[in-house]
Amino acid sequence: MSKEVTFSIIKPNAMKKNVIGKIVDKFESNGLKIAGMKIMKISKSKAEEFYAEHSARPFFGELVEFMTSSPVVVMALAGENAVLKNREIMGATDPSKAAEGTIRKVFGDSMGENAVHGSDSIDSAKRELALFFENNEICNS
Ligand code: CMP
Repeated sequence: MSKEVTFSIIKPNAMKKNVIGKIVDKFESNGLKIAGMKIMKISKSKAEEFYAEHSARPFFGELVEFMTSSPVVVMALAGENAVLKNREIMGATDPSKAAEGTIRKVFGDSMGENAVHGSDSIDSAKRELALFFENNEICNS
């Protein structure tokens, strides 16, 4: 077990459902701590950079358009095995395949509008956190 910090986004479809508190509660009640948090509107260039690994995929344009369509919440989540734990709390990428009680099962609408993003590895978490947070905006103590 090791203490990690991972990155999370509450996506526009979940923001429209007014469920920031319910999603944060899922993280906190499963042992993750909110170490950084802000509401922001992501620019097109930032969304393209964030999702660069998907740039050749057919859904890329739609994904960028969706992620820039309204404000989001970006978070740094800290805790033991935070990367894996966050992925378990979120559930599968496709909400229809996500386990009961997971965030994507409860609040996801489709593969694209799946309520939350979470880093898939420690390296991704470091890259993604650096895109959205200054060092002094993550308080992990
Ligand atoms: P996320 O965890 O934010 O990482 C990449 C996103 O691309 C993913 O969640 C989905 O929302 C989206 N995505 C992945 N595969 C597809 C797909 N086949 N069609 C539409 N969107 C997808």
